[in-house]
Amino acid sequence: MGGSPHVTADTASPDFILNEDYRRKQKNILVLVSGNGSNLQALIDAELAGRFSVSTGGQSGVSGSITAVISDRSGAYALERAGTAGIPALPEEPNIGLSKAEQRNCLSDRLLYRARKHQADIIVMAGFLSILQGEILREYENRIINLHPSLLPKYGGPGMYGSKVHKAVLAAGEKESGCTVHLVDEGTDTGPIILQRKVPVLPEDTAESLAERIHREEHIAIVDAVVLMLNKL
Ligand code: GRF
Repeated sequence: MGGSPHVTADTASPDFILNEDYRRKQKNILVLVSGNGSNLQALIDAELAGRFSVSTGGQSGVSGSITAVISDRSGAYALERAGTAGIPALPEEPNIGLSKAEQRNCLSDRLLYRARKHQADIIVMAGFLSILQGEILREYENRIINLHPSLLPKYGGPGMYGSKVHKAVLAAGEKESGCTVHLVDEGTDTGPIILQRKVPVLPEDTAESLAERIHREEHIAIVDAVVLMLNKL
């Protein structure tokens, strides 16, 4: 038959092979957010500064790239930050007509669909308030990380988020607090800890002042944790 010959895997050009090789080395990072997105900004800045280009065991390295941002709140400022950085960003809100359990299931499945579509290698929950469950936890086992504003296992679990955490820390008279990045498992804030950063709790602290001190450490912790993850892929 006439016409141009089909290009098969056997006859692929060197360019094609180089592209495949490059794609293997780029690790796609999907960031999940709910609010302001200052941690997302820390990740964007870190990528721009070259922090996500890592060498693995003497071999030529891998390079992490934030390839998508998803928010479970459509008005989240984090979506604007992503847009400004030229990163595809979209809301995926829970279906309010469903029960809490159904909302979690449904949102988790939609996020899994998006993660597959974007060929995500790592999922980073950077101030993401929804709880994941189901298939996404199995398919991305050991590849989803979450940031929590306390020294887990203290002050974690259902209902422990935002200022509630800092108020509980102050009420208990703790002398230190901090933040934790951990792998996500079936529980809430229960997965293996990747790293923690500590801050002092000062006598004059309010929930706001403590949150602000911890926030600064979160921006370092989330970047360091992604670098650790990239080193393990
Ligand atoms: C952080 O304090 C994080 O620990 C908590 O939500 C906050 C998110 O901040 N889960 P931002 O949206 O990244 O600025």
